[in-house]
Amino acid sequence: MGCKDIIKPLMGNKRFNHCINVSKAAQILAKRFGEDENKAKIAGILHDITKEFSYDEHINMIKKFNIDVSNLEISTEKLLHSITGSAYVKNILNINDNDILNSIRYHTTGRPGMSTLEKIIFVADFVSDERDYQGVDEMRKLVDKGLDEAVFGGLCFTIEALLKSKLPIHINTVLAYNEYVEKNKKGKNK
Ligand SMILES: [Fe+2]
Ligand SMILES: [Fe+2]
Repeated sequence: MGCKDIIKPLMGNKRFNHCINVSKAAQILAKRFGEDENKAKIAGILHDITKEFSYDEHINMIKKFNIDVSNLEISTEKLLHSITGSAYVKNILNINDNDILNSIRYHTTGRPGMSTLEKIIFVADFVSDERDYQGVDEMRKLVDKGLDEAVFGGLCFTIEALLKSKLPIHINTVLAYNEYVEKNKKGKNK
């Protein structure tokens, strides 16, 4: 059974279409930035596999697989699907490639020291074909500049949106943002 058939019954058409598009965008980015295209394709299609789970389903998975979660993660449904998604792919689909699992695990928050595949899934989720949020054109332009430029843009976008809504910012997002600020500083001093 292909990955498409696996995710199809777990979500509505709109989200299924999003996953197909993220997978496509991830493959294009993988080709461009020298990453394994097949891994990008798989991670892309599976990244939101548990997004339509109920809160109880997320909590049950976390208990069942004994996953460490912070208070912020438990109280933020948007963060739960990356955690349970990665656990689903590992424990139920038996995919053991850590890079694929981490790219699902960190696709919402980002984290410092992201691998190329993690960056690709993080960015692909922002620029997939059906995306039409305010700022998507800017994000697409950043992708043309480079992968790190796009990741930094995505982190800024995430933090700005959370600030505007007075929502908490996950520590991994802050640490990743700081990492890029530092990188950019060094780049300018060269
Ligand atoms: Fe997601
Ligand atoms: Fe997504």
